[in-house]
Amino acid sequence: MLVSAKEMLQKAKAGHYAVGQFNINNLEWTKSVLQTAQELESPVILGVSEGAGKYMCGFKTVSAMVKAMIEELNITVPVALHLDHGTYEGCYKCIEAGFSSIMFDGSHYPIDENVAKTQELVKVCAEKGLSLEAEVGSIGGEEDGVVGMGECADPEECKAIADLGVDMLAAGIGNIHGKYPANWPGLSFETLAAVQEKTGEMPLVLHGGTGIPDEMIKKAINLGVAKINVNTECQLSFADATRKYIEAGKDQQGKGYDPRKLLAPGAEAIKVTVKEKMELFGSVGKAFK
Ligand code: 13P
Repeated sequence: MLVSAKEMLQKAKAGHYAVGQFNINNLEWTKSVLQTAQELESPVILGVSEGAGKYMCGFKTVSAMVKAMIEELNITVPVALHLDHGTYEGCYKCIEAGFSSIMFDGSHYPIDENVAKTQELVKVCAEKGLSLEAEVGSIGGEEDGVVGMGECADPEECKAIADLGVDMLAAGIGNIHGKYPANWPGLSFETLAAVQEKTGEMPLVLHGGTGIPDEMIKKAINLGVAKINVNTECQLSFADATRKYIEAGKDQQGKGYDPRKLLAPGAEAIKVTVKEKMELFGSVGKAFK
């Protein structure tokens, strides 16, 4: 069932667990995530970055594929189709394409402009029944070998954005997209606690879910995180399983080159990763509660 992420996140927040956002890249990815969510009776959010949307032939293609797959596979758990790190223009494209949730990442704008654009999108999303995620404080990452530690959000700025009526807020707390460097100092729980204090019941979003130690994830959920984004970890699992299949020469045996066989170990590996994350986040069995 395609739904906005609003209700599932409010329930997660109240129940002290988090819903996973798993980024999708193609049909196999989407199928693996949906089937795992259904098997575990977990709500789920399918994340689509603008780059992945382009790769999959545009947001309309993605929306049509996800809706058809939900029907054909009899997926009855709540599923949100969510734009990840959307630009202002990208948000409107996804609203038009039939997404059920969007993230407007205005974190690189001066705070006044972030507020103004987010405020406009709050209104549009409310009219159309979509949920909206906003961002304050950037998420770090690696660029040309230079590792940024991620900028911690200003709790007052978080309050200004939360008060606009967004459904979820991504606040930078030292989290980073991709693999974490060995010298990463860890999440700033002081920032997280301060943001939550200022934003009340707002479900908080933790980006960069790949590679965060389990204990930190649990603590973050305790402090108010209700949505956790995972992308790289599924890519690593997929690549690892695919490499093993080819290195074992299985693509050379019988019809092992058939894409349905060649991509199967990777698709199964994604399922294992998604299952592990859903168990860690505590969303298993929560779909119909
Ligand atoms: P990772 O790729 O580090 O898992 O981050 C995913 C993410 O935050 C998508 O917005």
